[in-house]
Amino acid sequence: MAIRKIARMGHPVLLQVSEPVADPRSPEVAALLRDMEETLEDIEGLGIAAPQVYEPVRVVIFHAPLDDSVSFTSRDELRRTPLTRIINPEWEPIGDEQVERWESCFSVPGMRGRVRRPETIRYVGVTPEGKIIDRRVDGYHARVVQHEIDHLDGFLYPMRMDDMRTFMFETEFEHHRD
Ligand code: NI
Repeated sequence: MAIRKIARMGHPVLLQVSEPVADPRSPEVAALLRDMEETLEDIEGLGIAAPQVYEPVRVVIFHAPLDDSVSFTSRDELRRTPLTRIINPEWEPIGDEQVERWESCFSVPGMRGRVRRPETIRYVGVTPEGKIIDRRVDGYHARVVQHEIDHLDGFLYPMRMDDMRTFMFETEFEHHRD
């Protein structure tokens, strides 16, 4: 196990489309997941995608409730939920509702910005044990899933922002909110 360095915006690994995993139960995937978990714990993050630790493969982990039904609106609340490990994930919107919320990312350290995304989604993928994950979720859970899968397709949240006036340093946000 090892804590990995996090790739930051500007590194090409964050801009590429990651490769699907052929065997989700392989020892290589298990080893990568252990490193990602240790790294996520170290940075006290909500989720992390494999390209963020310089591995362009379709693997993400994030904290999320295990059932479909619970809405979360805060980051801290969500971080207390179990860890989901998902390989080759895909998602689709359910309904037309879109909501704008603050996002941040360890690959864009010290910053935050508002991003509009579908509020309710279905996502599917495979666990490292080879089980299917198939969940309908909303709120912050749905947002984290979209943010992490975006990393697998070479998107960072600033590329999703409508209004760059909301792209700001965390410290300025703390000083000037409300
Ligand atoms: Ni991120």
